[in-house]
Amino acid sequence: MPLMAQIIDGKAIAAQIRHTIKTRVSERLEHGLHPPGLAVVLVGQNPASEIYVANKRKACEEVGFLSFSFDLPDTTSQVELLKLITQLNRDNSVDGILVQLPLPTHINSQAILEAIRPDKDVDGFHPYNVGRLAQRNPILRPCTPYGVMKLLENTGVDLYQQDAVVVGASNIVGRPMALELLLGGCTVTVCHRFTKNLRAQVERADIVVVAVGKPNLIPGEWVKPGAIVIDVGMNRLADGKLCGDIEFTAAAERASWITPVPGGVGPMTVAMLLHNTLFAAEELHS
Ligand code: GUN
Repeated sequence: MPLMAQIIDGKAIAAQIRHTIKTRVSERLEHGLHPPGLAVVLVGQNPASEIYVANKRKACEEVGFLSFSFDLPDTTSQVELLKLITQLNRDNSVDGILVQLPLPTHINSQAILEAIRPDKDVDGFHPYNVGRLAQRNPILRPCTPYGVMKLLENTGVDLYQQDAVVVGASNIVGRPMALELLLGGCTVTVCHRFTKNLRAQVERADIVVVAVGKPNLIPGEWVKPGAIVIDVGMNRLADGKLCGDIEFTAAAERASWITPVPGGVGPMTVAMLLHNTLFAAEELHS
């Protein structure tokens, strides 16, 4: 059967967003305004986190932001990390603060996220920002779900009245994703490890967003014909190749639109981080 789905080109859409941001930064500088500043904090040596953080810092510099890098040893105490956050909270050249997760287990992540000033919380993980999104009045929105909403917008499909199924209920993706889709007018179901019949839920979804981190968790034959399929998974296989949580080839024979891995959601996370940092500089710190 031929490939039926249209590919949602996250790489190209993210490049467009970054280009617009770069232009805005130049305009700011021409008007004598400071470049947006993003502080990226990495604690320890998680190899995946090191790659994500390097990408974020590089993207920052490419659009003309100031990038402040803090690479701390995994022996860093919670008190020391809180001290750094207090210092960044007070620093007027810093518009955004990102602490890469996961943190070493001796640090209470929640305490760290809650210490970041909500108007510098460009990850959108502070309870204030999550609460604003839950009350349909978002300010700084979690980057990956926000990026997925931009990808959906790009298909031109009206989200109103669609049945959306989110697989995965993490604080970083699944939960805020459900809130975004609800805000967009969808009827939303969130599935997780205790869901009784995952197949039955996926089979009735007009939009399915999967963010679990298990290669090929969702067989293509589960996809409803004509559905929009968004794969947030990023799994490194033994042969070094990247793959998502959805069987891509089989799913693409049934879906109307589908994101590839890599080149789908991943680049959007970084683009929306830049978007949030510019937003903080322009709307929250001017
Ligand atoms: N770890 C995995 N994804 C993310 C993210 O979007 N932000 C942060 N801070 N950590 C992460």
